[in-house]
Amino acid sequence: KAGNEAVEWGMTETSASFPVRKENAHKGRHGRGLLIGGSKNMAGAPAIAALAALESGAGLLTTALPESLMYTTAPLVPETTFLRLPEKEGELAEDSVSSDFGFDRYDAVAVGPGLGRLKEAKEIVRRALVETAGILILDADALYWLPELEQELSERTAPLILTPHPGEMAHLAGTTPGEVNKHRFSLAGQYARKTGCYLVLKGANTICTTPEGDQAVHTSGNAGLAKGGSGDTLTGILLGQVMQDEDTAAMVNNAVFLHGHAADLAVEQEETDYSLRASKLASYVPRAIKNVQ
Ligand code: APR
Ligand code: MG
Repeated sequence: KAGNEAVEWGMTETSASFPVRKENAHKGRHGRGLLIGGSKNMAGAPAIAALAALESGAGLLTTALPESLMYTTAPLVPETTFLRLPEKEGELAEDSVSSDFGFDRYDAVAVGPGLGRLKEAKEIVRRALVETAGILILDADALYWLPELEQELSERTAPLILTPHPGEMAHLAGTTPGEVNKHRFSLAGQYARKTGCYLVLKGANTICTTPEGDQAVHTSGNAGLAKGGSGDTLTGILLGQVMQDEDTAAMVNNAVFLHGHAADLAVEQEETDYSLRASKLASYVPRAIKNVQ
């Protein structure tokens, strides 16, 4: 039933709600973001997400990662500052969880790209849920821990955005990827209303659901996105976009559109759906933004 009510979200809807950056805006500056992720074997993920966040509007971006990853990330994304997390053999050390993240100092926080599944990661996700005063985005392995953080999830009142692919959605909802794919609209609707989150259920025809259960479906994007890393790009775009305007539902949809549209522009221009890489995808975001401005 919910599926029949979903609207399609494309270029027209994104253009109509795309915020104009006012030079003399009085209201709070929307521009500070924190990204948390990275681990020994997923060392590139924070860089991909950070690039995308900076191409998408983030004014000041801090990237928190296991400290040795700073040396490989900084040359790729010189604009980000770092919060270097104590590590042991390339992975988060026990005392990393008590770091001063300053969760309440950011307009938006994203946790997950390349984060890994150590117990330290779980504690960081828990703190993010409790302490983030602005908008919180959870992706990838941050979602892995969510079923064990039910209380923190239910007590969170500030906006929460979850970006599962069908496998991660199955884990969240306690079902199988096959069931998720059979009942994408109704399952997403139920989960978003139950938890009060903005839910981005990914895959071709991504569905965005608001905490009220309103749904939009996206047809932008192509098979060039079916590659490891393109989810990290989406998380970065979301981080950059949601801090631009108070209409979070619109900003979430706009981010998903920009991600797909950037991929469509890429394959129209130099790339193909074989060659497109997530880190290159970020460089098409400015062109995608030009088309909606
Ligand atoms: N058409 C449109 N969009 C697509 C398509 C497609 N055919 N295929 C993928 N996408 C989009 C998704 O909607 C989503 O936005 O690309 C992005 C992929 O995101 P993820 O699935 O999160 O991928 P990512 O995290 O980058 O890498 C996947 O992580 O969890 C593991 O098992 C997973 O190894 C895999 C890796
Ligand atoms: Mg992913």
